[in-house]
Amino acid sequence: MKGQLKSFASDNNAPVHEAIFHAMMNANKGDAIGYGDDIYTLEAERKFKEIFGNDCRVFFMLTGTGANAAGLSHITRPYHSIVCSDKSHLENDECGAPEKVTGCKLISLPSDDGKIRVEQLGPLLHSVGFQHHSQPKVISITQPTELGTVYQMDEIRKISAFARENNLYLHMDGARIANAAARLNTGLADISIHAGVDMLSFGGTKNGAMIAEALVFFRSDLAGEFEYTRKQSMQLMSKMRYISAQFNALFSSDLWLKNALHANRMAGLLAERLQGISSVRITQAVETNAVFAVIPKNAIEKLQRKYFFYIWNAPRNEVRWMTAYNTTEKDIEEFVEAIRKAVE
Ligand SMILES: Cc1ncc(COP(=O)(O)O)c(C=O)c1O
Repeated sequence: MKGQLKSFASDNNAPVHEAIFHAMMNANKGDAIGYGDDIYTLEAERKFKEIFGNDCRVFFMLTGTGANAAGLSHITRPYHSIVCSDKSHLENDECGAPEKVTGCKLISLPSDDGKIRVEQLGPLLHSVGFQHHSQPKVISITQPTELGTVYQMDEIRKISAFARENNLYLHMDGARIANAAARLNTGLADISIHAGVDMLSFGGTKNGAMIAEALVFFRSDLAGEFEYTRKQSMQLMSKMRYISAQFNALFSSDLWLKNALHANRMAGLLAERLQGISSVRITQAVETNAVFAVIPKNAIEKLQRKYFFYIWNAPRNEVRWMTAYNTTEKDIEEFVEAIRKAVE
């Protein structure tokens, strides 16, 4: 059964970090007012403001897809379009939720490494003011990308400058933003609000939490009345304290950073160990906690008997291996040995 196999499929498959479970247990005492009027939520909001500045507005959400879709619907009208990469989660892995919920057209730009290049954006302005075309309103970038690559600061700044100049908003899908900040050795605010992002989907679930996502607005004019959009989007959790307690734990003693640094280091170690195996070809720069590789088809089949992971691109025999905060060096050594045997 897949559930019993060691997983290199996704950081979603890791267990909840003990400190986070502990924080939820601590919050599990006595009554607390529902829907966010509790001390844990106040504390988590305070922590977000400490990181992103007093003017940000944060809303706790249940899923990353929910944060993306509800947030995007709040800042668009159905005749707008949302520009994203053709590798984005928005485009490929949200079952059409962004289109359904926003009514907007997604314009996905071709990308080999998951990143949008500012040069790709100019031609989209051709549609502006032409009533037969959807009107570009949001650029959505994923940091790190779905291919594990990272936007450098200047790349984000160039895209945000383009957005500002052309009256567009910049959304960042930060389902794994901790991994990007860890990679770039920057703060969470540096790669988001300070780089010109307007709205951030902030992920905690892939970084050791159980259910902890947030939507952070960096402009009050965009946030206005989002509480109603969240409720209508079915993302308002009644027992909010349990989400908030998870963020409080993630932000205590820099747990978010420790978890992300570790996951990234394990992916780096995996990539390093694979160097010596000639029939394994790594296809993306390993910058966070994912390794993409092309390996012989029969080796994929052999490996999947012992390990759970996804085939990313079947015709190319490309697989994705992900590490998480709980991946150990021993896990990596054993996995590399299994790969070596499988390709023999
Ligand atoms: C880049 C990215 N964005 C958003 C999500 C949304 O996550 P969820 O499964 O919580 O909806 C994921 C999940 O894998 C993701 O990888």
